[in-house]
Amino acid sequence: MVVPGSQHIEDKMYNPPAELQRDAHVPDFNSYLALYRKSLENPEGFWKEVADEFFWKKPATGPMLQYNFDMTKGNIYVKCMEGAKTNMCYNVLDRNVKERNLGEQVAYYWEGNSPDHHMAITYRQLLSQVCRCANVLKQMGVKKGDRVSIYLPMIPELVYTMLACARIGAVHSIVFAGFSSDSLCERIMDAQSRILVTADGVYRGEKLINLKQITDEALEKCREKASSTVTKCLVVKHHALRAKGGAACNKLQTPWDSECDVWWDEAMRDAPEECEPEWLDAEDPLFILYTSGSTGKPKGVLHTVAGYLLYTSLTFKYVFDHHHDDVYWCTADIGWITGHSYITYGPLANGATSVLFEGIPVHPHVGRFWEIIEKYKVTKFYTAPTAIRLLMKYGREPLQKYDLSSLRILGTVGEPINPEAWHWYYDVVGRGKCPVVDTFWQTETVNVLLCFVLANGKHLATFPFFGVEPTILNEHGEELEGEAEGYLVFRRPWPGIMRTVYRNQERFENTYFRKFPGFYVTGDGCRRDKDGYYWITGRIDDMLNVSGHLMSTAEVEAALTEHSAVAEAAVVSRPHKVKGECLYCFVTLKDHREFTHTLVEELKRLVREKIGPIATPDFIQNAPALPKTRSGKIMRRILRQVARNEKDLGDLSTLADPKVVEILFSQRCEAA
Ligand code: WT7
Repeated sequence: MVVPGSQHIEDKMYNPPAELQRDAHVPDFNSYLALYRKSLENPEGFWKEVADEFFWKKPATGPMLQYNFDMTKGNIYVKCMEGAKTNMCYNVLDRNVKERNLGEQVAYYWEGNSPDHHMAITYRQLLSQVCRCANVLKQMGVKKGDRVSIYLPMIPELVYTMLACARIGAVHSIVFAGFSSDSLCERIMDAQSRILVTADGVYRGEKLINLKQITDEALEKCREKASSTVTKCLVVKHHALRAKGGAACNKLQTPWDSECDVWWDEAMRDAPEECEPEWLDAEDPLFILYTSGSTGKPKGVLHTVAGYLLYTSLTFKYVFDHHHDDVYWCTADIGWITGHSYITYGPLANGATSVLFEGIPVHPHVGRFWEIIEKYKVTKFYTAPTAIRLLMKYGREPLQKYDLSSLRILGTVGEPINPEAWHWYYDVVGRGKCPVVDTFWQTETVNVLLCFVLANGKHLATFPFFGVEPTILNEHGEELEGEAEGYLVFRRPWPGIMRTVYRNQERFENTYFRKFPGFYVTGDGCRRDKDGYYWITGRIDDMLNVSGHLMSTAEVEAALTEHSAVAEAAVVSRPHKVKGECLYCFVTLKDHREFTHTLVEELKRLVREKIGPIATPDFIQNAPALPKTRSGKIMRRILRQVARNEKDLGDLSTLADPKVVEILFSQRCEAA
């Protein structure tokens, strides 16, 4: 999306302020190029140097990276530092406390939904809480390799639990606490988790959410579908202890099953503060994180210990140009990959001080983000275009009340940032003094792949991070040189790339490697300009990006067709001022069923229940029939054009019944 009058920023070169450049890890473009070349020409040496910063119980016997990206030559695999033994939790906590003398440094400033709730947690305190939690999990029978599902809001206990898992070699599977009980159930069943960790309830803005009730519904659904693998549910007393006015104001009824449920505070009370880390193989799993798949069933993206440690720590250091006096704040939720990599593991591996924020940008007032930046003197701020667009609506006034002069670098992630939002971020939030680092990556790639190069770059365009080798292919899989547009793919792995889809290697290979043998296929389109900069143009598959969250059309369609009145459904995206894209759904009803306002509301509710509030459709249109090819394939291109009211339809020769299109245009929804 290019806003008139803003094209000029596209090609303008950008130099950061001199004082930022002076101390930067990569001070200028030539030093970036030199390091980048080294990372490709001598990956062994490059990654060894990174690994040397960390603690290895046993050194590697194999090379830094081994792989096969070509399906025609055998199974796809990536291995990093085979033979090495280490522990993630030891490296991000014990190493900082014991070897780097950072015990008294603040790891997190936790800021609650209400500004009255906040606390500072030092590295030493974090280590002791994590060890106690690790001992609690062990007491509950959790062993190396077991999966632990975590359904928690943005509270310190979420960080304690994930690191406790990492400490004892359990595999965490965090489910964003805004997901529905159906989504939670599906993820618990796929991961076959033994333990579920949740909280009684949480305020999100003004809204009180009974997490324990949703959890119980999810467990009940698991039991209905199969025998549930979950034996214990550990429940953080968050709402009851931290609610405004304390326990007396507890407004929740917490359902309780004394066979299964255990209160967190009771279990933690007597747990010892020492816990020897489990020494894991470099390629042992660290976590599973579910992401949408084009078939509608979420994929359990699996990441492993050593490669994730190397890549997360390095990207954090360089992308945010981390220095020891920084206060860093990433506004994502840990339930998404951004939070895993850039709230927990990346910052901690670097001994950073971060803000951990439970709330939302507009509660109790629309200046909350700016208030928090002033309060903690945040220097590096990382958020999503959708948040910027939301806050833009309130103008400059809410910012002017606060001192934002501590800010040095602004980051963005999740979707292409439109020039209008970029300008506002740069001019208003950063007062023209802070570079905007645009970071492109995916759940699968775990960390930044392409990023704005701090030293000297173009606005809105990026260069590859160290160790990654992007290229652009056309439909026939031919590599395009120079200025070009096509499929964004990667020719070789980097340490942090996903290893497989949990319990489904076949799906892993088919999704990312079948289309173009020898390459990892991102699913995104991309343009390379005459100067070699990469511009992400957006998804080129059936995925949608709503407020920076990726979802598949298939999963929303599956939810809609569960309604007894719906015969068929097709979902496309339509541009949205704040969300970037929103869902526009076409439903064909069964005979004799009527398209009413009540039905529309029922369908919206169904999607919320099946997937979660983020997937709520903005538009639902009655479609007496869907445009199909003669072979019966839905022509989504046409539906997208109906949703956007674009009448220039181009070639319709493959369409079976052209009358359908006219009817759809005549009945399209104008407003939500
Ligand atoms: C998809 C991945 C990155 C972590 C959060 C989302 C889109 C992400 C950018 C960006 C343009 C972006 C891509 C990608 N995307 N960042 N900076 N510019 N597009 O993780 O849910 O796995 O989504 O988000 O389409 O493939 P995810």
